[in-house]
Amino acid sequence: MIKPFRPRRSVLYVPASNAKAMAKIAMLKADAIIFDLEDAVAPAVKDDAREALRSHFLAHSAGTAERIIRINGLSSPWGPEDLLAARACKPDAILLPKVEKPQDVTGVTEILEETDASEHIRLWAMIETPRGIINADEIAELGLRSTARLDCFVIGTNDIAKETGTHLTNGRALVGPWLMQILLCAKAGKLDVIDGVYNDFADLDGFAAECADAVRMGFDGKSLIHPSQIEIANAAFLPDARTIAEARSIVDAFAAPENSGKGVIALAGRMIERLHLEAAERLLAKIAAIGGN
Ligand code: COA
Ligand code: MG
Repeated sequence: MIKPFRPRRSVLYVPASNAKAMAKIAMLKADAIIFDLEDAVAPAVKDDAREALRSHFLAHSAGTAERIIRINGLSSPWGPEDLLAARACKPDAILLPKVEKPQDVTGVTEILEETDASEHIRLWAMIETPRGIINADEIAELGLRSTARLDCFVIGTNDIAKETGTHLTNGRALVGPWLMQILLCAKAGKLDVIDGVYNDFADLDGFAAECADAVRMGFDGKSLIHPSQIEIANAAFLPDARTIAEARSIVDAFAAPENSGKGVIALAGRMIERLHLEAAERLLAKIAAIGGN
């Protein structure tokens, strides 16, 4: 089954404890919002943040942006209550931090099933620990089982750097192999995969360069921490006009009567196969879903 495409170019974290930031959400053009109860919320205000989240979801119905709630780990003092609150909010997805094995996901799926949670609530998993990276393949396989609810990996680059001691310098060259490994596992499991954050939110040129890298690496989008990063990510992950025109010409060429039934054709001096047609059709469907953004 082909999952319906959801644009996830810009995925913005908003700490649920930050009333000013929460009030801004409706004005922002991010493809997805992650309401954070975990690392961006200090232990002393965890309960208040959960209450603020409940009030926000009661007061605001879903707009165009996908809504995801990041809960604390279930073994933390806040995790179980976060999960209950998140379930009641009926977001598009619940994001689980520090996922290290398939059971970290299936355990939550079981709780959701047992408590008759809305079937529309999906699960996203943070891959951000050495063990999580090593087991990313097994975890991503859950993406092939629709009952597991798993839709997306989000990479936690700051935690990876903290846990490994590996620096995020030089265009992230040192962590690059791990990022690509996580990406490969995600794609094998038919999951989307969102790149980590860029901490220096005042450096928009550096952010744009990292987005361009993320596009070439194959990521579906970028995690963001500040509204100033939204427009840049949206533009970076939108295919350019030349790529779109090329996709249209491939679809048109295969639709021509003389090419019907052919597996391979020549187009402007290049070999084009049916696999290129599939990619072109996917790209045009993506553009249609993103719409005028
Ligand atoms: N979402 C929505 N609005 C945000 C925002 C966010 N992530 N980050 C900042 N804003 C708002 C601010 O509230 C401020 O609003 P105002 O114009 O009404 O005053 C405006 O954007 C400008 O913010 P600015 O003053 O530049 O930044 P700041 O000092 O208020 O906040 C951070 C800086 C880093 C603390 C803040 O951006 C943040 O908390 N980001 C998310 C961090 C996070 O969730 N981390 C966890 C995952 S790594
Ligand atoms: Mg983290």
